[in-house]
Amino acid sequence: MKRPIPLSICYRFIGPGPVVLVSSLYDNKAALTPIAWHMPISDDPPMIALEIWDKHFIYKAILQTKDFTVNIPSSDMADTVRKLGSVSGAKVDKYKKFRLAKEPSKKVLSPSLGGAIGVLECKLRRDKALLTKYNIVLGDVVHAEAEEEVFTDRWLVESSGPKPIHHLGGKIFCLPDKKIV
Ligand SMILES: Cc1cc2nc3c(=O)[nH]c(=O)nc-3n(C[C@H](O)[C@H](O)[C@H](O)COP(=O)(O)O)c2cc1C
Repeated sequence: MKRPIPLSICYRFIGPGPVVLVSSLYDNKAALTPIAWHMPISDDPPMIALEIWDKHFIYKAILQTKDFTVNIPSSDMADTVRKLGSVSGAKVDKYKKFRLAKEPSKKVLSPSLGGAIGVLECKLRRDKALLTKYNIVLGDVVHAEAEEEVFTDRWLVESSGPKPIHHLGGKIFCLPDKKIV
């Protein structure tokens, strides 16, 4: 028997993609924000979408710098990911506070997170209607790289190495750890 699920959490049916840490710059200050709501839009041209509340520091940073990086944290960063989501980059330098390595990116101004298992470098595709009505940030991916023992043409979830982490809601995260077909 099925039971009704509150609509406020119904997105969790389709939600658990890997949590990402989005980084950009505002007045040269680096922003780094966990984002769980995201999706691929197109593989040719490669394009993604992020849902970012417009009061977040990262939102302002992306609009100013016009590019951003999407960094995939590994499982051993789960605790830090939670903490990164509890403070604003407007008040603290999160890279410094959490002793994270900030690295230059290959094709965008925004920094990349050293230690991430994968990085997408994106240029903001400015779609005013989506941005202002729905807070949807579109990015054209101009460079992508990943640790070779973790991602080949897909995440190697069956390996014993580091893995992306998935947000189930609230304070709960899980790991994809089994390939079934
Ligand atoms: C696991 C996790 C996922 C999150 N996903 C989103 C999201 O998809 N969109 C969003 O606007 N905020 C999301 N947040 C909240 C922001 O990360 C959080 O409010 C953060 O402190 C904002 O930082 P900033 O002001 O430095 O950008 C998430 C937080 C966590 C911990």
